[in-house]
Amino acid sequence: MTDFSPLVFSGVQPTGNLHLGNYLGAITRFVEMQKSHACIYCVVDMHAITVWQDPKELARNTREVTAAFLAAGIDPAAHIVFNQSQVAAHAELAWVFNCVARMGWLNRMTQFKEKAGKHRENASVGLFAYPTLMAADILVYRATHVPVGEDQKQHLELSRDIAAKFNHDFAESIAAHGFGDAFFPLTEPLITGPATRIMSLRDGTKKMSKSDPSDFSRITLTDDADAIALKIRKARTDPEPLPSELDGLKERPEAENLVGIYAALAGVTREEVLRDHGGSQFSAFKPALADLAVTTMAPIAAEMRRLLEDPGHIDGVLTDGADRARGLAAATMDGVKDIVGFIHRSIAAG
Ligand code: AMP
Ligand code: TRP
Repeated sequence: MTDFSPLVFSGVQPTGNLHLGNYLGAITRFVEMQKSHACIYCVVDMHAITVWQDPKELARNTREVTAAFLAAGIDPAAHIVFNQSQVAAHAELAWVFNCVARMGWLNRMTQFKEKAGKHRENASVGLFAYPTLMAADILVYRATHVPVGEDQKQHLELSRDIAAKFNHDFAESIAAHGFGDAFFPLTEPLITGPATRIMSLRDGTKKMSKSDPSDFSRITLTDDADAIALKIRKARTDPEPLPSELDGLKERPEAENLVGIYAALAGVTREEVLRDHGGSQFSAFKPALADLAVTTMAPIAAEMRRLLEDPGHIDGVLTDGADRARGLAAATMDGVKDIVGFIHRSIAAG
């Protein structure tokens, strides 16, 4: 099998209300991966417009996600941070993938069904094709590892299916152009840790989401200390004290969620949280969790505010990242065009 150098890619949509689930499930993992891998982190503004976005809000939210990346500790000089729409190759490769992926595959995507709801006929074509653009985001860099939350698992499986079908359908041409037996890697999803699925603070059976109508369902990265403490105080729980073992969290989604949040914020396992807090009532556990959340999140919120005061600097980071990403993507697209049989003038990478 063709050897691919390890490369991490992930994306976050600039759709507002960036929350603790995004932070713990995705952004902290992005930060971690930088130590061991070359990383590319993308603010996926083209994915955002699959549902209507106010243009001014979209630009503001793009800067906000970028500020969150930087405030959390992503290094845009050592790695690459950019917004998707600045690198046209994503859309270009997505078109090729639209012709590789099958209608039946996309019809099975649960996120489309959830987002389109009863108004399927009225959903944008982009919302339906969302996963082929996501596959293009990853594969235009031939990335091998993708850290995401649990909700993206199905989309990543589709990326692997697209890569495999492209490698299969064009096998002869791939070999003839000197790319061995595979042009695209089968990307590994990285869905691990205690926070791959943070739930709503109002309902332990629903994931914490940017689009929940209740602001009390999520802690956002711009909440101040009072808001964080209030939301945790008001979080739904059951009347039982915390158990001392993981088994005792079964059928207690709200308790399980708060323990998971505590573990992720403290950087310990859920077992360790229960060892220290087993037997506590929520009246004691919630203030401890609120303190921990405030201490962890307040410096990030402060740094985000500082960065957002200088939008010119943020735009500079994105433009510089896009320039470097474009060079990498162009090399892949030259290969894709050769393989598919498109006549093109090879653009030097760089
Ligand atoms: P999105 O806001 O949909 O662009 O998601 C950005 C990243 O955050 C993706 O990797 C998601 O899987 C992750 N994510 C979103 N919501 C949650 C959640 N409630 N718990 C854990 N991870 C999440
Ligand atoms: N679909 C992802 C989400 O909503 C965002 C995303 C777009 C992404 N392209 C990606 C994540 C590529 C990982 C890799 O969370």
